[in-house]
Amino acid sequence: MTVKTIATKPFDGQKPGTSGLRAKTTVFMQPNYLENFVQSVFDTVGPLTGMTLTLGGDGRFFNSQAIQTILKMAAANGAARVVVGRDGLLSTPAASAVIRHRKTDGGLILSASHNPGGETGDFGIKYNIPAGGPAPESITGAIHARTAEITEYRILDAADIDLTRDGETDLGGMAVEVIDPVAIYAELMRSLFDFDAIRALFASRFRMRFDAMHAVTGPYATSILENELGAPSGTVINGTPLPDFGGGHPDPNPVYAAALMAEMFSADAPDFGAASDGDGDRNMIVGRNTYVTPSDSLAVLAANAHLAPGYADGIAGVARSMPTSRAADRVAEKLGVEAFATPTGWKFFGTLLDAGRVTICGEESAGTGSSHVREKDGLWAVLLWLNVLAAKKMSVADVMAEHWATYGRDYYSRHDYEEVDKAAAEALMDDLRSALADLPGQTVEGLTVTEADDFAYTDPVDGSTASKQGIRIVFGDAARAVLRLSGTGTVGATLRVYLERFEPDPAGQGEDPQTALSQVIAAVETLAGIRDRLGRTEPDVRT
Ligand code: G6P
Ligand code: ZN
Repeated sequence: MTVKTIATKPFDGQKPGTSGLRAKTTVFMQPNYLENFVQSVFDTVGPLTGMTLTLGGDGRFFNSQAIQTILKMAAANGAARVVVGRDGLLSTPAASAVIRHRKTDGGLILSASHNPGGETGDFGIKYNIPAGGPAPESITGAIHARTAEITEYRILDAADIDLTRDGETDLGGMAVEVIDPVAIYAELMRSLFDFDAIRALFASRFRMRFDAMHAVTGPYATSILENELGAPSGTVINGTPLPDFGGGHPDPNPVYAAALMAEMFSADAPDFGAASDGDGDRNMIVGRNTYVTPSDSLAVLAANAHLAPGYADGIAGVARSMPTSRAADRVAEKLGVEAFATPTGWKFFGTLLDAGRVTICGEESAGTGSSHVREKDGLWAVLLWLNVLAAKKMSVADVMAEHWATYGRDYYSRHDYEEVDKAAAEALMDDLRSALADLPGQTVEGLTVTEADDFAYTDPVDGSTASKQGIRIVFGDAARAVLRLSGTGTVGATLRVYLERFEPDPAGQGEDPQTALSQVIAAVETLAGIRDRLGRTEPDVRT
């Protein structure tokens, strides 16, 4: 086995976005594209001499091939060991758990999360730091800079490694350690939740449906929910990971998990439904006839976390991304703990978690998690919900009604305009940005603007700053709208419009969210002229 040094030239645009480098699978499959990025990571965090890395992905098309390439490159760059999930699989939260449990020098995760996979879909890769979380911008910036100047990469000339069996193999002096992708993660879950209580719940008449969307959580959910907690077999559906996710869009929201939604709103709906995304870090929670928004889920979990053994001593604080509704802030206030609003992107929670300032974090984009790892964690959220339902002996609908009666309801919806013209979307944002100073005091569609700004953030722990993180238009305590461009799309631009309205009166808490938000929706349209400027009559997705 010899180390080959291959001459290469930089590719434009190898810039990690909200969550790593994402591109069309065909772009990643070009000669040297993946290799350039991986070498740039190694050059930035290395030299790898003596290091141990964690490696795994969500099983999408090109996953296996990319894993083999990365193993050979890690060996050629002098790594001592790579811990890799069997069949190249590791969910994102499980990868974070492995990095932390095995104390590896970070890891590489192959995924484009909730974006469709397959040859015509998307692929992605990101580097996570030794704490287990996504690399902060100081590191991703350095990786990007390195991709722009790279001239060569190193790779071992060797046969592919068999990743179907657990155990250790030598690869040019580097140990390749194949592990069960579920074991370390399942052990962590056992330490946090009252598995006996959840087992008793499943032993009663309680029924659940978990849609793994043919993505990576299938093996995790089957092992934990069915095999360990005794949920009847068939509780987990679409549980076999497929390279193209069965042609589906593995994003757990009411639009892409339509079949689950239909079942949960049918006459013989199960008590509890949930879904997770491509790489297992997102979640959707739905009760019988009751959809729980991610923002509400965060608030409910923060308010009830103490019911799970792992959080019995209470939580240190709650963090949400800025566009997430303000529901969690009210819970934090009542608990007397700190509340933080960060820019979109899980990586911004890392410093707060490391410093022990927060225990629970969440985002409107269907991510919830805690200090147990440094990623959001779909199955964790599902298990915490199960623990809460088991402890409270209540239905999801009753939990929500009780929560809103106590804290008020934040009606919430996100409208997405996908794959729109990038220049038009940027112009829309720029024009709105320049008009912000004049907005306070204006009344639009019956709502008076009290504050308008472009969200800027200073990390309270390390002082790092981020600007232009989303335009906020606040209508007092009553309502709020946020507009920002997605950082995870791969085609054109996606405009996200986040809408919310607070309703403290239980008598007014039973409306359809789109109806309850109609005034805010109209106000944003008047202020931003979305439909005209983007040439769209409707959003593509309403969460
Ligand atoms: C990824 C990140 C999340 C983020 C989400 C939305 O899932 O891990 O932290 O909230 O993307 O990003 P976007 O930029 O598309 O709104
Ligand atoms: Zn994901």
